[in-house]
Amino acid sequence: MCGIVGYIGKQQAVPILLDGLKKLEYRGYDSAGIAVLEESEIKLCKSLGRLAVLEEKLGQDFSAATCGVGHTRWATHGRPSDVNAHPHCDCTGKFAIVHNGIIENYIELKEWLAERGHHILSETDTEVLPHLLEHFYAGDLEEAVRLVTEKLRGAFAMAVLSYNHPQKLVAVRKDSPLIIGLGDEEYFIASDIPAILKYTRKTYILDDGEIAVLQEDGVRLMDFQGKPVHKEIYEVKWDAQAAEKGGYEHFMLKEIFEQPRALRDTLLSRLENDLVVLQEIDLTAEEIIHYQRVVIVACGTAYHAGLIGKTLIERWVRIPVEVDIASEFRYRSPLIDAQTLVIVISQSGETADTLAALREAKRHGARVIAVTNVVGSSIARDADDVLYTWAGLEIAVASTKAYITQLAAMVLLALFLAEAKGSLPEERIKEIVTALRQLPGQAQEVLDQAGLVRQLATVFQPAEDAFFIGRGLDWSVALEGALKLKEISYIHAEAYAAGELKHGTIALITKDTPVIALVTQHDVYEKTKSNIEEVKARDGWVIGMTYVGDQRLEKVADQVFYLPKTLSELAPILAVIPLQLLAYYVSIARGCDADKPRNLAKSVTVE
Ligand code: AGP
Repeated sequence: MCGIVGYIGKQQAVPILLDGLKKLEYRGYDSAGIAVLEESEIKLCKSLGRLAVLEEKLGQDFSAATCGVGHTRWATHGRPSDVNAHPHCDCTGKFAIVHNGIIENYIELKEWLAERGHHILSETDTEVLPHLLEHFYAGDLEEAVRLVTEKLRGAFAMAVLSYNHPQKLVAVRKDSPLIIGLGDEEYFIASDIPAILKYTRKTYILDDGEIAVLQEDGVRLMDFQGKPVHKEIYEVKWDAQAAEKGGYEHFMLKEIFEQPRALRDTLLSRLENDLVVLQEIDLTAEEIIHYQRVVIVACGTAYHAGLIGKTLIERWVRIPVEVDIASEFRYRSPLIDAQTLVIVISQSGETADTLAALREAKRHGARVIAVTNVVGSSIARDADDVLYTWAGLEIAVASTKAYITQLAAMVLLALFLAEAKGSLPEERIKEIVTALRQLPGQAQEVLDQAGLVRQLATVFQPAEDAFFIGRGLDWSVALEGALKLKEISYIHAEAYAAGELKHGTIALITKDTPVIALVTQHDVYEKTKSNIEEVKARDGWVIGMTYVGDQRLEKVADQVFYLPKTLSELAPILAVIPLQLLAYYVSIARGCDADKPRNLAKSVTVE
């Protein structure tokens, strides 16, 4: 969480810092600030609220500065306010620091600093950093930063600006992402690539335990012991346009409409003749046979993709699969060993809980396959094998195209394992592969019905509660539909296994409660239909979802949404699209900001 930027070069620093922060607002947007060096002084401007508020406050100030740091915040310690906004300074105003992560021992450090006469002004964990720097500084900035890192526990990516070293910035990374951009006699610091893409494609992706020193004549890298580090330049392949809205009102809508392309990119290059070929997974059939269990670990939307992975792997590969929420997994002494295949799923590849779970799994000797969308992310680098979801840059906080490609990845992985184990007849694999090839076009057919979803959204606009029901895979999709609606429209939404509703929750159904019933799983069709009847008998208002050509739901539901025909196992990939659109249109109708929902951040890099 939180976005960090830094600039040193010959151009005006403020516009570059603000532009970078705009690209990082998805990481947090409750307050923002910048610090620059101008006229031999550190100058600071911070403010509560979105970046636009800071921009207005700044006006034309600090226009002579060519070096500075900036921050957009998602509060962890201390409520959003001017004083808690970053950058934070020491007592003398000679150091300014922006930070992403959590300093876990900040309370003891605060006390330690207070005993030495330092005055801490904010409620944040971050503010100990500039004061520690002030304490350790004896003329050598890098050495002081190094000594500070020795005092810290927790996760930190930070950028340091110092009055004593006007032509220098220092960047530090441990357990929170940070990259360095290499321009022509100008250098950048950022939490993520989009912030610098307008200026350069050449980057260093810092590893944990590394420090970068940026000066006019270049960038030096070292580790926390001060030893020089040599690193390959990573050249970013995608372009700056990917980070623009391309005519759509919101990134979320743009990303929903990019799903046919995202599916095509993720699926098609991995389908060869009638088989799934995953060259990126370095496991032989003999090795695969030896795995007795699969454990899938992820958070939020990625966890919902994992639930679908479980059903598919258990059905097609016939081995037990557990799905765990990453923040729970590592604290319950998980039963995993070298016979367990662990799959972690993460769009960003930086989610702290998922990364910690991955490391825990490796500590127990398990092999870890990562399913992620970000090349070179921490999760991609720490895993044994990586299956990339080629969704492309996802900016909206609510994940859509990344989720759909995670589902595609689950199908690919399940089939890959089934092929190796010989657990599915060839004909069946061929049938699934054929259906997979049709999915991108079918996703487009669903998107073509966006107008209908927009109309249906009017029913949800005044609602206070909504329910999503389904059985089997439909239930897993329902969970994702409910999360989307909650996340961006703030309507209380719950997903229920359709058969479970009658065991209590049905008491909440009234005429003002819209219910979405997913009915795409043939084996439980009649059962779910009966559950819809139960809701109707309590005056609930129901939208049913089934395949085109099936008129049966029209007799029980108030409205029916039709999906193109596909296999039951692939239905989630199509069924989630109207749910994403619904959440989006309800959010807009309620006057919410679909791209930047309250209290949230896209990349959750704190535990
Ligand atoms: C999705 O809409 C959410 N914003 C959130 O649940 C997200 O999926 C979760 O934080 C996991 O992120 P990751 O995929 O980047 O690990």
